Amino acid sequence: MDYFQAASAAPPGWRRYTLEDVARLPNQYLATVPVAEREAAERGDAEAAERLRRALFWPMVYELEPQLWDAVSQAEPIHPGILAKLEVEGRRVLEVAAGSGRLTVYLCPRADELVCVEPSAGLRRILVTRCPSADIRAGFAQALPVEDGWAELTVCCASIQPDPRVVLELERVTAPDGILMLISPENPDWFQARGWERLTFDPSDVVLNPHDPELEKIVGPLDPPHELVWRERRHRR
Ligand SMILES: C[S@@+](CC[C@H](N)C(=O)[O-])C[C@H]1O[C@@H](n2cnc3c(N)ncnc32)[C@H](O)[C@@H]1O
Repeated sequence: MDYFQAASAAPPGWRRYTLEDVARLPNQYLATVPVAEREAAERGDAEAAERLRRALFWPMVYELEPQLWDAVSQAEPIHPGILAKLEVEGRRVLEVAAGSGRLTVYLCPRADELVCVEPSAGLRRILVTRCPSADIRAGFAQALPVEDGWAELTVCCASIQPDPRVVLELERVTAPDGILMLISPENPDWFQARGWERLTFDPSDVVLNPHDPELEKIVGPLDPPHELVWRERRHRR
């Protein structure tokens, strides 16, 4: 999803964040904004300013209101059919974009070793309370703080965009005979078209956990992760 698509798709709660909030985001997020858009917003162009606040809604949730993302993720569990497909037992597992631990709580007791990478300091603070034994590191998927070939399973939930550079980085940190499993990535079609296996489960099987109805007024309808794309890491020639 590009910047303009993200602005169009912003959930109803985008108005809770201001341009000052946008300015508090890490550069990694601000770098995704077209230069002309930032300049127009800075000049006082109201439409550009609104697009900026809309497009960066989710990063502002993760960075500025981590407890809000935590409430969303705890309300919408991952489809159990996906968890049953994850090959975690006895493996060195890397979880990218771990958030506050919705998937991590499943990985932690099963993995041989578990490294979690997550950019938001607020989400990492929640994550460590849920999974104190995990090795939790700050970082982005574009440059993972993990050595080459470390992970026997690299997994990620509801976070990976269809970006060939990110897929290369996931491959770099995965062992030559390791597996990459992406739960509900953005645009599963993109991965399927490039040879990834795809499994789709029925989201209506998932029972949402009790939650404050105000949540959906902010983030829109809840959508439990129910897609899995996966493949073996390809050996480099
Ligand atoms: C939709 S949440 C999913 C969190 C968690 N995986 C879960 O399923 O609950 C997206 C997560 O990706 C993180 N994130 C955003 N951009 C990222 C990037 N470029 N690299 C790694 N993580 C990123 C956010 O901080 C947030 O924790």
